[in-house]
Amino acid sequence: MNFNLTEEQKLIKKTARDFAVNELAPGVIHRDSNKIWPAEEVKKMAQLGFMGIMVSNNWNGGGMDTVSYSLAMEEIARVDASASVIMSVNNSLVCYLLEKYGSDYIKETYLKQLATGDKLGAFSLSEPQSGSDASNMLAFAKREGDYYLLNGTKNWVTNGLHSNYVIVFAVTTKDVGHKGISCFIVDKQYEGFEVGKPEDKLGIKSSDTTELYFSDVKIPIENLIGNEGEGFKIALSTLDGGRIGIASQALGIAQASLDHSISYSKERQQFGKPISSNQAIQNKLANMAIEIESARLLIHKAAWLKDLKQDYGYMASMAKVYASEVAMRASTECVQIHGGYGYIQETGVERLMRDAKITQIYEGTSEIQRVVIARHLLK
Ligand code: CAA
Repeated sequence: MNFNLTEEQKLIKKTARDFAVNELAPGVIHRDSNKIWPAEEVKKMAQLGFMGIMVSNNWNGGGMDTVSYSLAMEEIARVDASASVIMSVNNSLVCYLLEKYGSDYIKETYLKQLATGDKLGAFSLSEPQSGSDASNMLAFAKREGDYYLLNGTKNWVTNGLHSNYVIVFAVTTKDVGHKGISCFIVDKQYEGFEVGKPEDKLGIKSSDTTELYFSDVKIPIENLIGNEGEGFKIALSTLDGGRIGIASQALGIAQASLDHSISYSKERQQFGKPISSNQAIQNKLANMAIEIESARLLIHKAAWLKDLKQDYGYMASMAKVYASEVAMRASTECVQIHGGYGYIQETGVERLMRDAKITQIYEGTSEIQRVVIARHLLK
């Protein structure tokens, strides 16, 4: 067993750390408070190759492994969780899906631009009545000659506003459950495509989350991904990888909580000594460190299994459920260690607690991850 990172993995981790500290950190509180989408920062992430890290070089990607992707995600999220989810959706839900399931036409036309970050992608599966029960969707795409006519509504779409291309799942055959769901790539320029207003969220405020409305949108048949009826399996297998991205985001938030807790507790004097000299504080720091390292090992194991092309879905679910719960605990303790200063915006740690919460919800709630894990154990 070898826990050492390769030279390439060390380099991407350092590049992401330097970028996050130098370019993301200065404006992060301002962007969060004012819900400003990080346009310039996303452009720079694209220049660094962070928008298509795992896509092969043939399709303009970085050709790196999932461990590298996780390392970069952790470092970006350690400073700015909003920027990290923009990156995560493009990498693991959009580019990964297109490379694995798309035709050469789709890769040439869409993946190449998405992998460089020249264009941005979104993934739309959920609908107002179907979240965890994802196959219970109503969006319907009716085949008419050489196109599909799409009608319906999607919600909770990260990058819904700023994306150029959207992966859309819709029913193509009614009354056959998940076997009637198909997957498409849809250009937002198509007539009948409308974006709803951005949601006002508890956290990840400088990323956008919207509803999408489709009214007789004509999708050319070449934009069908895989075969008709394969959409639900494409969605679930893509989410397996997406969960490694979100687990890495949660890990970054947890690590940031520990970083801030260490530096503040060494600095903050009470009763004539730094609060870090109290065992009550030391126990909190130690518990955070134990949990963060455990989460990191789970995530890297899931990523490693994925890179070896072994069964990794249940491990990705374990990594996501654990890392997101660690992020919630660590960020809450971080605010506690900061006392009153932790509760105000300018210190920057209340944002960690707000941002952590979503990692227990999106790309499959903690409850759904436990369903996936239990099904694996019992099969
Ligand atoms: N990969 C490929 N296929 C899979 C699979 C996987 N990981 N898991 C299951 N399948 C297959 C099954 O084998 C089955 O196929 P057969 O009928 O041929 O055997 C089929 O898919 C259906 O499986 P289930 O019967 O298990 O499906 P289910 O309806 O019971 O649902 C679930 C299972 C785990 C609950 C699933 O629906 C799920 O993960 N729900 C959560 C959805 C989710 O994560 N949503 C997040 C949306 S993205 C987002 O958050 C927005 C964003 O922008 C970030």
